[in-house]
Amino acid sequence: MNRFEISQTVGDIVTREPGLSRVFESLGIDYCCGGKMALGDACQRRSLDPQVVLSKLEDESNRSAAMPPPFDPAAMSLTTLADHIERTHHVFVKTEIPRLREMAAKVASVHGDRDARLATVRDTFDGLAAEMTSHMMKEERILFPLIRQLEGGAGGDGSCGHSISAPIRQMESEHEQAGEALSALNGLTGGYTPPEWACNTYRAFLDGLQHFERDLHEHIHKENNVLFPRALSREALRN
Ligand SMILES: [Fe+2]
Ligand SMILES: [Fe+2]
Repeated sequence: MNRFEISQTVGDIVTREPGLSRVFESLGIDYCCGGKMALGDACQRRSLDPQVVLSKLEDESNRSAAMPPPFDPAAMSLTTLADHIERTHHVFVKTEIPRLREMAAKVASVHGDRDARLATVRDTFDGLAAEMTSHMMKEERILFPLIRQLEGGAGGDGSCGHSISAPIRQMESEHEQAGEALSALNGLTGGYTPPEWACNTYRAFLDGLQHFERDLHEHIHKENNVLFPRALSREALRN
């Protein structure tokens, strides 16, 4: 019997078994911003046979069971998870943005005549970079400190009085916009596939963009499907 059901949400599946994000990445199923969607609906959206997807999940789950336990954000405290997101994903985004922006500009200026999509790729990435910079600043300065205070971390006593639901809604809406920009970049670059004539910078740029997309999916999943719902439950218990 299959352990997975088409009625489960894709976010829940990845929260329970983080290694299954590989299956969703490979099939183009959005498990972060689209994490609240049932697996059956996500398959329909991508025109995928749900039975094939269920057996891929089963296979990957069996394969991961034979490996050392993966990193599990669901087992962390809210404070540890917020710290982890800042130290890994936020640092990664901040490090990659200047490098990728420079490569995007270079590739568009050198090869833009041959491939008109490169100017759109550059502009889309610049827009995403600006949005992510301001988004992460809001998380680091406003939302994450409130979340830490909920469990009395970082000098808080768990009674700061500010509700986290409005800032969480705002962050989720910004995640949707970032997800749309990523899927536009994925589409514009044919799934980050370089043309035969691409130079090394062009290839390195697409490889960097693909890593950026994977990391951002994982990052948004940890916030939308693990940190935010757990913080909201904690707040509901407090009230
Ligand atoms: Fe974040
Ligand atoms: Fe975020």
